[in-house]
Amino acid sequence: MRKNQTKGTESIMLDKDRMPRHVAIIMDGNGRWAKKHGLPRLAGHNAGMESMKEIVRCASNLGIQYLTVYAFSTENWKRSQEEVGGIFRLLTKFVDLDLDELNEENVRVKCFGDYSIIPPKAKKSMDETLKETADNTGMQFNIALNYGGRADILRGVNKIADKVRSGEISGEITEDMISRSLWSGDENGNVPDPDVIIRTSGEERLSNFLLWQCAYSEFVFTDVLWPDFTPEVFEQLLEEYQGRDRRFGGRK
Ligand code: IPE
Ligand code: IPE
Ligand code: MG
Repeated sequence: MRKNQTKGTESIMLDKDRMPRHVAIIMDGNGRWAKKHGLPRLAGHNAGMESMKEIVRCASNLGIQYLTVYAFSTENWKRSQEEVGGIFRLLTKFVDLDLDELNEENVRVKCFGDYSIIPPKAKKSMDETLKETADNTGMQFNIALNYGGRADILRGVNKIADKVRSGEISGEITEDMISRSLWSGDENGNVPDPDVIIRTSGEERLSNFLLWQCAYSEFVFTDVLWPDFTPEVFEQLLEEYQGRDRRFGGRK
């Protein structure tokens, strides 16, 4: 069996009434998984795509309304050309081959991040996927691609500045205006802030993910490497989330 199971399914108790509306995942550990198995890094990314596919289906079946995955950061361009090219080839394969399945699941795909500068083939596949799934009414699956939290805020602030200059906005800039100017804002259906951010592979940092949107997100970490991630691990982490006491600064 390829995947590690840390706990049996029978002991997982998910409360259907307390499911998070929006789950965000920092899918990390592909490279370490490959190293552990004596394989090239791209084999890790390939295995990671399989996990992603499985988790999209699982999240949709669990009734989660929004799933956002961190697929490629604005800093990941620092990696070798071979790795970057390989990641985009794998991503293209994922969106092309699994488009039918996404449609069957009624999943609507959106992109957070400026994907206009990714390799042309990958861009074309993304364009098609966004278009073909646009009218689906099930789970919204946001792929953060060439995404950075600071780039997100900067772009939003510049959009607002343009509107101020043109006179479309006058007076105070509000939190709501900033939220709506982000990738998760107006152009992608005003996605609610993530209830929970999951990071795999034992790293406990945001790495420039959803900086504005994470203000009151719960953080859940696991040592499991992303290619070993299973629906069982996912449900276990959601159970951990459901055990949290979210106070939003209020008193008990
Ligand atoms: C996450 O896995 C995938 C991307 C960042 C694209 P990594 O490639 O970061 O894996 P590690 O952290 O080197 O193990
Ligand atoms: C974050 O992982 C980005 C993605 C998962 C796409 P990284 O592996 O790039 O982050 P660092 O370098 O460990 O912070
Ligand atoms: Mg990493």
